[in-house]
Amino acid sequence: MNELFRTLLGLPEQASTVATQIDYLHYVVITTALLGATGVAAAIIFCLYRFRGDAATENHRGPSAPFWLELMAVGGLLGMFLAFWLVGFRQYMTLQTPPADAIDIYVIGKQWMWSFAYPDGTVSNVELRVPAGRPVRLLMTSRDVIHSFYVPAFRVKQDVVPGRMTSLWFEARRPGTYDILCAEYCGLSHSRMRGRVVVVPPSQLGDREGEQSGDLAATGQRVAAERGCLRCHTVDGTPHIGPTFAGLWGSRVPLISGGSVVADGAYLTESMMDPLAKLHAGFPPVMPSYFGRLSAVETAALVELIRSLRDRGGGDEPLAPAPTGSLATPTTEVPR
Ligand code: CUA
Repeated sequence: MNELFRTLLGLPEQASTVATQIDYLHYVVITTALLGATGVAAAIIFCLYRFRGDAATENHRGPSAPFWLELMAVGGLLGMFLAFWLVGFRQYMTLQTPPADAIDIYVIGKQWMWSFAYPDGTVSNVELRVPAGRPVRLLMTSRDVIHSFYVPAFRVKQDVVPGRMTSLWFEARRPGTYDILCAEYCGLSHSRMRGRVVVVPPSQLGDREGEQSGDLAATGQRVAAERGCLRCHTVDGTPHIGPTFAGLWGSRVPLISGGSVVADGAYLTESMMDPLAKLHAGFPPVMPSYFGRLSAVETAALVELIRSLRDRGGGDEPLAPAPTGSLATPTTEVPR
């Protein structure tokens, strides 16, 4: 049944763990739509024939149907659409929630090529290498204009936006090679902005689980030194011109404009590319933009560096935690 529908609709192989269920919803919706359209067309043709007449024929009765029939039509349609929505919403949530054990790979789109930076510090162009049977999360940004990362065989697609980081996850079911397309018009060679996902048996990729993010963070450490980040930012929580990297990841950053933002990959990338967009309260707005000055891999490495420092305490709080008893001390020793 699945194969029949897939062939009829000309869909590519179902190569990811979510592809089959997405296709099933697609089959149900398109079958319903086709049956509905056929029914409406048949009713029109029937009525054209059955109620034909000339101008002289008196037939000004309005439409009439028993109440229960109207109720059934309205309720049935509503129920049907809600069911579509419910299934679609659950699938959407699945697509939006990467498993906790996903491997992070950074993706950079630029006119007109895809580049990839892996947790072990290696990079590749055009070809994305991932293990079969392991969830992979892509953290994506663009160096120039909006692109869209699209792997038809995985049924996943996500815009890739300059100055922001968007993400997408998938788990490839078996080894093979699958097309990557750009699904957002991005200039003259948009149609040639192609790549491929090469899914290999997990054994061939080496076991990266243990040292995940270790080496990309080390690259970030080097980049931070070379590019002058460390002239203003510290990695150990010491206060300096800019916010320290220690404990920054995942923390709530108060903004000069009021409100706050969580320091995640998207915020950090934006702060590198467009530092004036969201100014951290308590720091002078002196950071230059690194848009076009940091390569995509360097950006990814810096984000990874900051992420690796998330447990280093710091932030803007003093480094040493207050002694646990300190709050109670004054009350016990209040002079009489
Ligand atoms: Cu990149 Cu279209």
